[in-house]
Amino acid sequence: DETRAGALVLFGITGDLARKMLLPALYHLTADGRFDLPIIGVAKTDMGLDGLREFARTACGGVSDAAFDKLAGNLSLITGDYRDPATFARLREETEGKGFLVHYLAVPPALFSAVAEGLAGEGLNRDARLVVEKPFGHDLASARELNGELLKFFDEDHLRRVDHFLGKEPVEDLMVFRFANTLLEPIWNRSHIRSVQITMAEDFDVRDRGGFYDANGTVRDVVQNHLLQLLAILAMDPPPSTDARAQLDEKWRVLRAVQAIDPADVVRGQYDGYLGTDGVRPDSTTETYVALRAYIDNWRWAGVPWCIRSGKGLPVTDLEVVAELRRPPVTMFGNGDAPDAPNLIRFRLQPDAGVTFDLLAKEPGKQHTRPVPVSVDFTKVLGPMQAAYERVLSDAVSGDPRRFARFDLVEESWRIIQPVLDLTDRPLPYEKGTWGPAPAAEIPPGGWHEISTTFD
Ligand code: BG6
Repeated sequence: DETRAGALVLFGITGDLARKMLLPALYHLTADGRFDLPIIGVAKTDMGLDGLREFARTACGGVSDAAFDKLAGNLSLITGDYRDPATFARLREETEGKGFLVHYLAVPPALFSAVAEGLAGEGLNRDARLVVEKPFGHDLASARELNGELLKFFDEDHLRRVDHFLGKEPVEDLMVFRFANTLLEPIWNRSHIRSVQITMAEDFDVRDRGGFYDANGTVRDVVQNHLLQLLAILAMDPPPSTDARAQLDEKWRVLRAVQAIDPADVVRGQYDGYLGTDGVRPDSTTETYVALRAYIDNWRWAGVPWCIRSGKGLPVTDLEVVAELRRPPVTMFGNGDAPDAPNLIRFRLQPDAGVTFDLLAKEPGKQHTRPVPVSVDFTKVLGPMQAAYERVLSDAVSGDPRRFARFDLVEESWRIIQPVLDLTDRPLPYEKGTWGPAPAAEIPPGGWHEISTTFD
């Protein structure tokens, strides 16, 4: 269902996500002329409408301009408990006559079904879409249970599960790079690719999110959702058309072919000092780092390791995919016994966006034909990019489902990582500012390639 919204109902409007991401995104959309709808905020604490407007102004960086006035003019506020039917009765009055509603749940997942039920109690699930933030479930069984709860009140066509990585332009550009060009597809398979390495590194620790993080860990926080979505976009076959369903179906088909991770292919780590963090259990075995190998059982990828690593407290903040090509069958120009460096294709997603090919060329000014590394760099300088949450909110309003996590994809990703969730051994310690525990280096054949942000 792609009915355009007449109003946005924002549950948790005074919360962290609204402050950090959603309100600034709504402000930018308003300034660009891409958003002008009533925003009915729902919150537990009553700061009053003036209080909310000031809260929003601070969230948007203290701005004071026509765009902010317009945004502020669109705001209203309902307060009350999310489990109290009276809250929803007030919401019904406030939304009366506003047309199709988009209910955006920026609240803890434990409240998702209570809110859906409250909405239905007032008929607010009709002519409406429900958008929920991550995490969606804690494992496969709880994800199914949660989905069952939501399906009582909203069908799949009216449900949207947020994965903000899908709103990132560089992530979406992977698809454009793959399928708008003919350069990559002929070699994008097991005959030519030796391994694919996905790195999502963060140089900060769990900060003030100890409680949330300790209940989740790296695998639930970013692998189950963001990084498996990335893998799906990179590994899928070309969709037969550009429509949302065709894209989502291809992603599902490739995730379906990913084997559940073998515990022997996993290294979990925990940075020193994590156990002293507020909200973290003193004997916690939650991982703050993971490196793993995934295998895709299909004709394109069988036998090629897809290596994923992510962690907090690493040397840099960076998101990069490095694909290593197989070496030439014969070493023609090698330096003695040392094989030439393999060709690499780097998709740089954060902090800058671009594609780099690491190749070899003849060392210039020399009699010999020994190769030296050269790189061909397509840095994207086409224009400023939209923030991920601006695109997520635009889609929430328009209903385009392609940048959300369809439930069958969510199910596959929980299935894939379940064996990692089942590991109860103590993660290996690592020092902050390093690349995780030493054994993680063994995850890709030949080790991890250095990522580009760490180059001099
Ligand atoms: C969130 C995780 O989903 O994604 C965080 O909960 C992580 O732990 C964040 O830091 C990274 O997103 P971005 O857009 O800042 O790269």
